[in-house]
Amino acid sequence: MKGGVGKTTVTVNVAACLARDYQKRVLIVDLDTQVNATLSVMSPLYFAKLKRERRTLKTLVNQTIQAEIGHPLTVQEAIYRNVCDLKGLDILAGDVDLFDDYLLSALINSKAIANQQSYEKTWNRVENHLMRMILKPVLRDYDLILIDFPPGDNLITRSALLASHFYLIPARAEPLSVVGIGQLESRVKQLQESDRTKIKLIGVAYTARGQGSNMELKVKQRLDQEFGQSNIFATEIPQNVDVAKAVEDHQPVVINNPKAIGARAFRKLTAEFLQKLVKTIRRKA
Ligand SMILES: Nc1ncnc2c1ncn2[C@@H]1O[C@H](COP(=O)(O)OP(=O)(O)O)[C@@H](O)[C@H]1O
Ligand SMILES: [Mg+2]
Repeated sequence: MKGGVGKTTVTVNVAACLARDYQKRVLIVDLDTQVNATLSVMSPLYFAKLKRERRTLKTLVNQTIQAEIGHPLTVQEAIYRNVCDLKGLDILAGDVDLFDDYLLSALINSKAIANQQSYEKTWNRVENHLMRMILKPVLRDYDLILIDFPPGDNLITRSALLASHFYLIPARAEPLSVVGIGQLESRVKQLQESDRTKIKLIGVAYTARGQGSNMELKVKQRLDQEFGQSNIFATEIPQNVDVAKAVEDHQPVVINNPKAIGARAFRKLTAEFLQKLVKTIRRKA
């Protein structure tokens, strides 16, 4: 729910490690209109080209809702492959105007009228199926699909939650981080209780460890109590200027500066991510 907690940084660095160190086939999906994940793995020049060619998530969202026939863009055509010169690291680029409330309501309204269905029913169907339908054709092409969420809650984020099997919560040990996590957990619980998803938590990961102040400790104790220690990643990413600097070169730090403290921490986090993922898969619902 919250901005600036390290969602994008975790997504692109873990994705890069999975592709490079574990030879996994990985797709990053950038849901954020601020396109930070996209610009963390490609230059604005390339992004401008994709946007000109309309090879972004926005085109897929619009045509999926409208159920366009003819020759629409396929998800395979939209995906940009081997970013950062890394085999197996692909991205479905975000779009600065991906989410337009008005446009989406208008699309859903015309769909409801065409299908002679209520607006509410049409909305729920779109929410349930949108991201699942967009990603379905490439599910077999990837070992992992990592979706980078924007802050907040809207039709597309709910649809992406419903398309996901697992989620990871990046956190900063600061009081406002806890508020966002609380909101996210109640949203997920709502969706689980209405039997719309079986999504499971992989864990909470600290993405910018500070100096271990009292405030940090207090927040950590609280999250420990709330989630149980086994659900908190033992690996913590330290605050490290190289992590932020790598963004200027449009590369994750693990590629841009592999020896940086932050890069080493992300390699460790990725190893733990895979262990926790296996455990989560084995855990009964
Ligand atoms: N471990 C870290 N050390 C230093 N800067 C970081 C670290 N993690 C993230 N940042 C920086 O903090 C900002 C917010 O991180 P970001 O991943 O974009 O958060 P979110 O996606 O949740 O909004 C970015 O400028 C990013 O480069
Ligand atoms: Mg982000």
